[in-house]
Amino acid sequence: DVSEEEYKIGFSQAMTTDNWRREMNKAMRVESSMHPGLKLEIKDAGNHIAKQITQIDEFIKEEVDVLIVSPIQSIPITPAIEKAMNAGIPVIIIDRKIEGRNFTAYVGADNMEIGRNAAKYIISHSKGEAGIIEITGQEGSSPAYERSIGFKNTLDSVPGLKISHSIKGDWEKASIKDQLSTHLDSVEAPDYIFAHNDRMAMGAWEVARSKSLEDEISIIGVDGLFGPNGGIQMVKDGLLDATLLYPTGGAEAIKLAEELLRGESVNKYNILRTVVIDSVNVDIMQNQFDKLNQQQNDIEQQQAVIDEQIKTYNTQSDLIKLMLVL
Ligand code: FRU
Repeated sequence: DVSEEEYKIGFSQAMTTDNWRREMNKAMRVESSMHPGLKLEIKDAGNHIAKQITQIDEFIKEEVDVLIVSPIQSIPITPAIEKAMNAGIPVIIIDRKIEGRNFTAYVGADNMEIGRNAAKYIISHSKGEAGIIEITGQEGSSPAYERSIGFKNTLDSVPGLKISHSIKGDWEKASIKDQLSTHLDSVEAPDYIFAHNDRMAMGAWEVARSKSLEDEISIIGVDGLFGPNGGIQMVKDGLLDATLLYPTGGAEAIKLAEELLRGESVNKYNILRTVVIDSVNVDIMQNQFDKLNQQQNDIEQQQAVIDEQIKTYNTQSDLIKLMLVL
């Protein structure tokens, strides 16, 4: 363990406006609380590239022992990561990638596989003929690019399955609702919509619903988050036909950091598993996440108690020191 010394991990998070990223942060906090020697600091870039670069610079100046980064976009963040590497700080990239291979380790699911699995789902559920709309994530971020490639390549193997239209989103539903609405007014309803995440998939469902098309269009999303507005609930409620699990990797990133601090060598690419969540397995998945969530909450509560005890202990030992001096 790394409990002998204090180590500082800096995490540059792209933004924290959505639950998926809040879950990632939570998983990181829970995992690092289990290693007493680790101190985790999270900086939120608020989806501003310039801010993310500045925050990475701050972490370099603070001389963090490990830097974890979830880049907003690949190309503009790459030089900032190189700077950290040149300063001798190991860098773990999580979820979205940078350009090239100048980083210590990557952790995240295979986004090409996610695209392929979405296509395979359509192939096995349609009778070889279907109209499909794709709604993509933010341009320049690697999951959007890779999900598209995987999706298109797999669909190409079936002549009757064509993407009739593509809509460019930015990961949030507000970016796609008007575009989809206008498009649906001018064409026959598609059989499938593949949205690159569940929040945009929810937007697609709202548009379909407003045109009474929700029963005609099958919607597939990505993320499969647990909780009230998450993909698992949307599959349960029949809003989505399926979602592809996209694990946040928060706990795994901290584990990797800990291994690096112990001087162990780690794999460069740490690929997390994805799975299709649909009506067949949604209850099992919900039960699993329910358990995991309870465990995480227990750990967080215990950590709060321990922090309180440490505070009391510190005040008491300060008092004793004072008494000894007197
Ligand atoms: C969260 C998110 C997820 C998506 C991921 C891609 O901010 O938009 O919904 O799967 O980022 O990086």
